[in-house]
Amino acid sequence: MNQLHIERCLPDGFLAAALRADAQAGLTAVPKTLPPKWFYDERGSELFEKITLLPEYYPTRAERSILAAAAPGIAAATGASALVELGSGSSEKTRLLLDALRDAGSLRSYVPVDVSESALIGAAHRVLASYPGLTVNAVVSDFEARLGLPAPDGPRLVAFLGSTIGNLLPPERAAFLARLRAGLREDDALLLGTDLVKDPAVLLDAYDDAAGVTAAFNKNVLAVLNAELGADFDPDAFDHMAVWDPQAEWIEMRLRSAEDQVVHLPGIGLTVQFGAGEQLRTEVSAKFRRDGVAAELAAAGFAMRSWWTDEQGRFALSLSVPA
Ligand code: AVJ
Repeated sequence: MNQLHIERCLPDGFLAAALRADAQAGLTAVPKTLPPKWFYDERGSELFEKITLLPEYYPTRAERSILAAAAPGIAAATGASALVELGSGSSEKTRLLLDALRDAGSLRSYVPVDVSESALIGAAHRVLASYPGLTVNAVVSDFEARLGLPAPDGPRLVAFLGSTIGNLLPPERAAFLARLRAGLREDDALLLGTDLVKDPAVLLDAYDDAAGVTAAFNKNVLAVLNAELGADFDPDAFDHMAVWDPQAEWIEMRLRSAEDQVVHLPGIGLTVQFGAGEQLRTEVSAKFRRDGVAAELAAAGFAMRSWWTDEQGRFALSLSVPA
């Protein structure tokens, strides 16, 4: 019999308070920044799903092709009874892992962890419908705040896919991996998706598509501030930009103010000025190399056991275990 449990790890008002704090700190900083996690309200999540279908946005397809080939080996290597998926979103690629773990006979539970309760419940019901006997323990949590790992009743496979780890800055990545490692036992494993360094032209197209979906996604963070903080951002007064930083090896998304303007955010009692041409950084999306991923994992107490890329070497999945 299928079962769905929902665990809410975030105290009431946690996300609202975090958004206020991030907006206050980021919009008074020089240069101005906002963390990318605030893209993902309902419309932002829909826009991201559209991005994954764009011809320019290769990461989702590349990762799916790796998973399709590697999932049986991952299932055999881990023997996982629980699949924990951090930032599960719509759980689309997860099915490849669930299929492999089910076919290997070890799968008992699926633990999607996401800040969006509505996304979680939708995904949980779709998964429940296709895996008879599976227990789904959905965890509403912010993986930066609480991991929401289930108590072990067998080996756990923690999947952090989509190169979402690239949204964290290097010190945040180190802290996140160390905290994750601290919550794992010897027989657990980490499956990490990382987008790879490549021709900047390919990267720039992936973050500035011809149809303008990424531009709309980027500007959606302004709509989120308008809705949540009563702000009066005019999304049309900002232009979408994607910039490759060759030193840091990351893509930045920015919003460039088209004119001198003043924006009010009554929800946090803040008034902000933007000069014409001033840029607000809304996302860092780091691109990785194999040695760098292995080193970051090792620094956090993991040993990388396997590394797979797609045929074109655009994206990588790595499987690591506690060292
Ligand atoms: C979901 C964070 C992996 O960084 O590529 C897509 C988000 N931003 N297009 C990424 C995103 C612009 C995406 N991640």
